[in-house]
Amino acid sequence: MRAYAPGRVNLIGDHTDYTGGVVLPMAVDLRTTVELQRGGRTVELVSATEAEPAVVPLDVADPARMSPGWARYVAGVVAAVRPAEGGSGRVTTTLPQGAGLSSSAALEVALALALGFEGSDAELAGACQRAEQLAWGTPTGIMDQLASVAGRAGHALLIDCTSLEVVPVPIPDSAEVVVVDSGERRSVALSAYAERRRQCEDAAARVGPLREVSLEDVARLDDPLLQRRARHVVSENRRVVGAAKCLDDGDLVGAGRLMTESHASLRDDFEVSTPRLDRLVEELLGIPGIYGARLTGAGFGGSVVALARPGTPTPGRPLAAADGARVEGSPPNSGGMP
Ligand code: GLA
Repeated sequence: MRAYAPGRVNLIGDHTDYTGGVVLPMAVDLRTTVELQRGGRTVELVSATEAEPAVVPLDVADPARMSPGWARYVAGVVAAVRPAEGGSGRVTTTLPQGAGLSSSAALEVALALALGFEGSDAELAGACQRAEQLAWGTPTGIMDQLASVAGRAGHALLIDCTSLEVVPVPIPDSAEVVVVDSGERRSVALSAYAERRRQCEDAAARVGPLREVSLEDVARLDDPLLQRRARHVVSENRRVVGAAKCLDDGDLVGAGRLMTESHASLRDDFEVSTPRLDRLVEELLGIPGIYGARLTGAGFGGSVVALARPGTPTPGRPLAAADGARVEGSPPNSGGMP
């Protein structure tokens, strides 16, 4: 069995998925492929980018204790999917690791499919989200895995993280999505991510679900830190909906402006940017032909995404929106609703 899954870049809507908000990622034309001969009671994989193999028993109890590090993802998938039989094979990828393009989600989704996972897009993404959480103990949301599963060539995906409905939004031919790797790797990301999520939950416990409350409700929070965190989430949901509409209308100036505002909110209210990411965004905004730029993903390093006129000279790499994961030779997973 040979299955592949793309990475993703998030155009706008960060730190909203785990509060049931909206996001606008796209699957990208870089992917991870898992080739597996099924059979046996272990999953044994070698990887072109890893020195040591991953060897995981089907009854693995605690994926977070596996080594080498990448075996945690394999173990997370085994624990989340609990396949009837194991297999041995190899992993290859065109995705850069740790650059914020969700190479881990791509590995999880491709492996789950290669292990014979059957279910809807939302079920596959949910199983792989659990795999990620089991692997690292970090309470990450569903965006990365669902974008990898449900990708559509030429389209971004407006995902409602409460209903898990996915609406493809065409990316106009007059736009190019560019990603620049900051080279900064996120050492503090795991603990800071969990802390941000807790703060959002604290804020929601006081004012109500952040998906539903208004900026006026948020302004009534008496804790200034929680107020800033919640203001990011509530305003980011609005920007996501606005940016999807702008793309639909071919209004790239409007979409770019919302992306740049998103960066400011992630920097000032959510405090997940870094000086290097801020500098990169500023540099990009100074290039004629760039409509907007922002950090993408969890922050604390990783990549910056920009919306540009096609052919704009930038330090980054243009990425095309790609179809989602599939078993080679088959149609996409199930396409559509949970
Ligand atoms: C990581 C997580 C996602 C999402 C982003 C921030 O990529 O895996 O679920 O929360 O951070 O938007």
